[in-house]
Amino acid sequence: MRPCKLALILLFYCFSVSAQRKAAPVTCASCHRSQALTQPDTQMGRALQLPGDNPELTTHPKLTYTIGSYTYTVETQHGQSQYIVSDGTRSISLPILWSMGAQAQTWVIQNDGRMYESLVSYYPTLNGLFTTVGDEHMGPKTLEEAIGRPLTQEDVTTCFGCHSTNAVQDHKLNLATLKPGLTCEHCHTGSMEHLNSAMHGTKRVDPPSLSDLSTDDISSFCGGCHRSWELVVRAGWKGTSNVRFQPYRLANSKCYNGNDPRISCIACHDPHQKVETSVAYYDSKCLACHTTPRQANAKVCPVSKINCTTCHMPKTPFPGGHFIFTDHQIRIVKPGEPYPD
Ligand code: HEC
Ligand code: HEC
Ligand code: HEC
Ligand code: HEC
Ligand code: HEC
Ligand code: HEC
Ligand code: HEC
Repeated sequence: MRPCKLALILLFYCFSVSAQRKAAPVTCASCHRSQALTQPDTQMGRALQLPGDNPELTTHPKLTYTIGSYTYTVETQHGQSQYIVSDGTRSISLPILWSMGAQAQTWVIQNDGRMYESLVSYYPTLNGLFTTVGDEHMGPKTLEEAIGRPLTQEDVTTCFGCHSTNAVQDHKLNLATLKPGLTCEHCHTGSMEHLNSAMHGTKRVDPPSLSDLSTDDISSFCGGCHRSWELVVRAGWKGTSNVRFQPYRLANSKCYNGNDPRISCIACHDPHQKVETSVAYYDSKCLACHTTPRQANAKVCPVSKINCTTCHMPKTPFPGGHFIFTDHQIRIVKPGEPYPD
């Protein structure tokens, strides 16, 4: 090839690359790289999964389970999953369009224009299907009833509201605007206006800062989905099943102080990152208060200087046994003592 021809090709290549660069859309990632890189892959980022992007179902292409005289099959092929219920003679086969939950998952399915919560769910701890937690009492009498629990309008909007973004408008489900999982704008209201202003070089309007919220306010913010202390008290939810309501459990601990940032949800959890499972990571969070008596308002452990959460935040099985939660009611756990609910 003649050198000048090569130069021309090179010039054209550089030109097209720079044109592509210019065309690259401005997104949150352009300026907030660290949050944007990790957040979409967290459990909250994947709290609702659409067909074609569901690793648990892809790796479990055929799941079966039997409840009484009904057989359930969940079959996945080329990214599409079918939920099939059969009574031996007849069967109903419905496409799975919305999977709630990143790992353990329950499906919202549609039959004759009505939405249902699937009567069986996938549980990673069982590596298979089982009756959906909370639906054990249903005892279906017809094939149609065996599909699952019919959802009211309110069930639908709250379900999609907690598990996805922009799905609810004027108290109604709007599938056209739905984004799967919790995206930036679910937690950061006003971030689209912020993006537009940042993009068009107009005066930048920043979304309200969540880092500045008090410990009580953060608990209520997370409690909007994880359930707040007030809600659990008002509803009177007792027993070990309330272990899943971390804002309630934490507020009942002697460590909790609504004005102390060291015991805020965001002192221990970065909502843009996968939950930290190393025990050592949390020691410094406890020791921020429980250092030598003279320096702090909290006492020092006579038993250990490490692995604080293993003894004081016990892993507690959720009734039914398919999940384990971490008890956020930080305390001295005495052997044989009943669960303080
Ligand atoms: C062109 C760059 C740019 C883009 C694009 C952008 N931001 Fe920002 N953002 C900034 C700057 C600069 C600030 C103010 C300084 C700071 O706090 O980082 C800010 C502030 C914020 C804050 C407030 C931080 C705080 O605690 O005060 C949030 C939340 C935020 N941006 C989220 C988003 C989201 C979500 C998107 C996408 C929808 C986005 N940003 C797009 C530049 C940008
Ligand atoms: C809009 C609803 C919503 C809000 C607000 C919310 N969460 Fe979540 N969160 C969820 C859902 C839904 C899941 C379950 C995701 C799953 O397992 O599919 C979850 C899961 C989690 C997990 C478990 C992740 C894992 O890997 O096991 C942590 C930790 C968590 N949230 C912390 C927080 C904190 C801290 C806040 C407040 C800063 C918060 N969440 C606010 C809905 C929410
Ligand atoms: C008030 C907000 C809220 C509503 C409404 C809600 N969820 Fe969730 N969901 C959460 C949170 C928070 C988690 C994670 C913590 C936990 O497991 O309790 C979660 C977790 C899950 C999980 C993971 C397994 C588990 O139980 O931990 C599944 C599956 C699930 N939800 C399905 C549903 C379905 C289906 C609906 C609606 C019919 C629904 N959720 C309604 C907030 C909500
Ligand atoms: C589950 C709720 C939730 C989601 C989803 C979420 N954030 Fe945040 N974000 C928070 C909270 C709470 C804070 C304050 C605590 C902190 O700094 O981590 C925060 C803080 C920030 C800050 C300020 C950080 C600082 O150092 O002051 C930026 C920037 C930000 N988020 C960007 C994003 C972007 C971009 C996305 C989407 C990729 C996103 N967030 C998704 C809850 C969320
Ligand atoms: C002092 C530290 C600390 C604080 C404060 C804290 N957590 Fe946690 N959280 C933990 C630990 C430790 C785990 C278990 C992590 C693991 O090993 O999987 C955990 C796990 C979780 C999980 C996963 C499900 C579970 O129960 O195992 C959720 C959801 C969660 N926290 C939400 C919250 C919310 C919401 C708040 C604020 C009300 C909060 N946490 C405050 C330490 C803390
Ligand atoms: C904001 C500061 C703060 C943080 C962070 C904190 N604590 Fe505490 N904690 C206290 C205070 C104050 C008390 C009550 C006085 C005392 O007993 O030391 C307390 C009490 C306790 C008690 C005694 C409770 C009882 O039932 O008598 C234990 C155990 C404990 N904390 C462990 C922990 C562990 C483990 C962590 C981390 C996972 C932690 N704390 C994080 C402030 C804190
Ligand atoms: C092996 C289990 C274990 C570990 C690990 C552990 N503790 Fe303890 N802790 C205990 C027991 C048991 C007691 C009660 C001792 C007693 O009453 O004699 C206790 C008591 C406490 C108390 C109350 C002290 C008082 O004077 O009333 C605090 C505060 C505390 N622990 C904090 C921590 C912190 C912070 C860590 C991590 C640095 C930690 N613990 C690690 C088992 C443990």
